[in-house]
Amino acid sequence: MNQSDAGATQIRALVAGNWKMNGLKAALSQALAVDEQLAGAGDAINADVMICPPATMLMVLSELAGKSGLKIGGQDCHVNQAGAHTGDVSAEMLADAGASAVILGHSERRADHGETDKLVCEKVAAAHRAGLTAIVCVGETIGQRQAGLTLGVVARQLTGSLPDGVNAETVVIAYEPVWAIGTGLTPSVEDVAQVHGMIRERLVERFGEEGARMRILYGGSVKPSNAVELMGIANVNGALVGGASLLASDFLGIVDAYRG
Ligand code: PGA
Repeated sequence: MNQSDAGATQIRALVAGNWKMNGLKAALSQALAVDEQLAGAGDAINADVMICPPATMLMVLSELAGKSGLKIGGQDCHVNQAGAHTGDVSAEMLADAGASAVILGHSERRADHGETDKLVCEKVAAAHRAGLTAIVCVGETIGQRQAGLTLGVVARQLTGSLPDGVNAETVVIAYEPVWAIGTGLTPSVEDVAQVHGMIRERLVERFGEEGARMRILYGGSVKPSNAVELMGIANVNGALVGGASLLASDFLGIVDAYRG
């Protein structure tokens, strides 16, 4: 076991569900079922669990889901605290609605809204200002992987998307290969280990002890049937789950990878 593995074993895992633009009122029952079951499991689950619903559901979910310590997160925020930005939501608003975290720089936002590393970095600072943990997403496209550019691309996103002065409480990294999101495809164990190992090295280089303690999640087609294998890889400290987080039974099947 190398040094970073040794450090990583003490990191409490995080399993976060990213509902994306899914979820009407009826879907609340799925989140509440997760809350209920986690409350029943008590200390048996060695991980923090979070659901990031659409912004429309944040407040009601944070008010209703209070049994288990289930955390609630947003999916994006504006860099400013308030002002003339029609349709946007600030980090302070997410916190006010009961969120403790926010996903930033997801590849869908980078692709659909042209978000750059610089903008993501400003959003991480905004999350920090509002007291939210930023879950910062990085990951290569299939073309970049096939061209052998994965490590360079991910390293560049990591450097550019993080402001100075962040720590293990305020930042979580999510490695999400773009080609693995929603496709049912996952990288090999060796490939995940290689990218997560590189991310850990970079975090330690830049943030020292804090970098050694930061959580690095894997995301992209995580499901109950592959969670144990993926979560067992060195420097994988949890999962960011899209499709399989929408149904309580699937999501809990993934969380079960952390049952002690
Ligand atoms: P997926 O999405 O689990 O549906 O592949 C992951 C994500 O986009 O966070």
